[in-house]
Amino acid sequence: MNLIVAVSENWGIGKDNNLLFYLPSDLAYFKEKTLNKVVVMGEKTYLSLPKRPLPKRTTIVITLDKTFKDANVTIVHSVEELLQVIKSYNQEDVFVCGGGTIYKLLLPYCKLAYVTKVKADKEADTFFPNLDEMQNWAISQRGSLKEENGLKFSFDIYENTKIKE
Ligand SMILES: NC(=O)c1ccc[n+]([C@@H]2O[C@H](COP(=O)([O-])OP(=O)(O)OC[C@H]3O[C@@H](n4cnc5c(N)ncnc54)[C@H](OP(=O)(O)O)[C@@H]3O)[C@@H](O)[C@H]2O)c1
Repeated sequence: MNLIVAVSENWGIGKDNNLLFYLPSDLAYFKEKTLNKVVVMGEKTYLSLPKRPLPKRTTIVITLDKTFKDANVTIVHSVEELLQVIKSYNQEDVFVCGGGTIYKLLLPYCKLAYVTKVKADKEADTFFPNLDEMQNWAISQRGSLKEENGLKFSFDIYENTKIKE
């Protein structure tokens, strides 16, 4: 499986259960990568979506809450259960979409990380692990510098050289 995330300069990803930045071209990039694919997200991130589930995607919600019910999504309660469920999909089509807890939990199992790097800092309460400091993660594609809403950003791709099975 892969993951997709937008980070600030210090790898912040969210505050008060919201995203840090509003970048329409990043939302479009997210849509382009995940459309007709499988998205995996934590219950908190799922419930924070303005429209849920995301249209034209298969959604898997991971939560410890055994009472959580939603007929429109597949619900799993552990990494083991998730790994079992995603066996029926092409692994390249499965995208981990957050939030902080779920990225950290599933990072070892991901092959590629699609990282939108925003060249700005903003106060955050949720962070993504700094992939530049992780031994088994290497940048495989550095995107060109873009600008929107006064924010500079790039679409980078990291690769995990030691995936956990
Ligand atoms: N920048 C980005 O690209 C991006 C993307 C997505 C989200 N975000 C941001 O991330 C923040 C939310 O992140 P978060 O860490 O608070 O929440 P989260 O990762 O979305 O959700 C955490 C959920 O995972 C469940 N969980 C925790 N450990 C588990 C385990 N071992 N097995 C199964 N389920 C487990 C918890 O269940 P229980 O509730 O039952 O404890 C909780 O519901 C928000 O600010 C959001 O905007 C940013």
